[in-house]
Amino acid sequence: MLKTLRSVVRLRKFDWNSRRRRLARCGDINDLRRLAKRHLPGGVFDYFDGAAETEWSMDNNSDSFEHVHLNPRVLVDVSHIDTSTTVMGQPMAYPYAFSPTGFTRIATSAGELAVARVAAQRGVPYTLSTLGTRSIEEVAAVSNGPLWYQLYVWKDRGLSRELVQRAKAAGYKAIMVTVDTAVFGRRQRDVRRGFTLPPKIGPETFIDGMRHPRWTLDFLTHEPITFSAVSGRGDVDGSTAITLSDYVNSQFDASLSWRDLDWVRSESGLPIMLKGIQSVNDAQRAVAEGVEAIALSNHGGRQYDGSPAPIALLPAVMDAVGDGIEVLVDGGVRRGSDVVKACALGARAVMFGRPYLYGIGAAGEMGVDWVVDYFNAGITRTMALVGATDLASLRGTARIGK
Ligand code: GLV
Repeated sequence: MLKTLRSVVRLRKFDWNSRRRRLARCGDINDLRRLAKRHLPGGVFDYFDGAAETEWSMDNNSDSFEHVHLNPRVLVDVSHIDTSTTVMGQPMAYPYAFSPTGFTRIATSAGELAVARVAAQRGVPYTLSTLGTRSIEEVAAVSNGPLWYQLYVWKDRGLSRELVQRAKAAGYKAIMVTVDTAVFGRRQRDVRRGFTLPPKIGPETFIDGMRHPRWTLDFLTHEPITFSAVSGRGDVDGSTAITLSDYVNSQFDASLSWRDLDWVRSESGLPIMLKGIQSVNDAQRAVAEGVEAIALSNHGGRQYDGSPAPIALLPAVMDAVGDGIEVLVDGGVRRGSDVVKACALGARAVMFGRPYLYGIGAAGEMGVDWVVDYFNAGITRTMALVGATDLASLRGTARIGK
């Protein structure tokens, strides 16, 4: 009996690192999301996790991946799989990049630096947001990997000029102009909470803070969170709490149009990606304007209900602009097989933001690393299972159906 018992009982070595222990129990991004929810104050989690209006667009983004079917080939030698590609001339080990996300420092004080560090170590392009809480130079100092700079165009054009020039001087390799944010979407979770940036520690948030002592201590013992793109400019740097929609609507230029792209190009001299293309016509226009890449994106569903799911739009865009431009998909990507589906439908690569935010919220830098491991393994495994040894051989192995 003892022998039988010994053959089945295996005591797992206890891992004294609680973060690693928790991560080891995560099966997917949903588990990571739940962990992040436990560790972050409600307002912070909701800012990252929430979306516009009824959140239909956000849910539809990921649901739409369920309608993509892969057509596997068997008996293909998949002992070596090449997942590499290039985007805007830069090599990538796997076909994904980290989307820009605002205020990453509200999750943890290291914020953008932690994400950029992991991205560089793992060869993932990292995009710093104009609404970032670490400066262009601070991020460049911790990264020897590919960096892109996301631009919201300020009403103050001088400021936008300064930002793109600083990005170029600091070694960023591309400018990603977000084109879906003429005005800011209504994020109802933030409205209900009266959420501001930086977060106010008022009576309602006090109790939340007590329930998340690790976050609260980290927040209170580090330098105040400001909009680092404009830090030092007391009028606009966020040293006074403001709702994000008031901030964006008062500072960013709602008159931005196609005519301004030449200006962005001549100021930066860098390749341009337009993030937020939501129609075939605009994809065609982007080709005509000579930009290097587009990201089909609805801002993670954070702008309005009823915006098209990027993955659903991809086949029509590929038919229309095909090889004329690099097409990326951003929105609802939650697992390696989603990345494979997008590439099989013709995307050059994908981008995602929430998964790494869940990672950093759940377990800091280690959580972001977990996300990279999870996606890399998922991409390689799915390619092996559909019999594709490189990304080119994936093309045409997917279709959209019910
Ligand atoms: C910022 O771009 C946001 O979506 O909150």
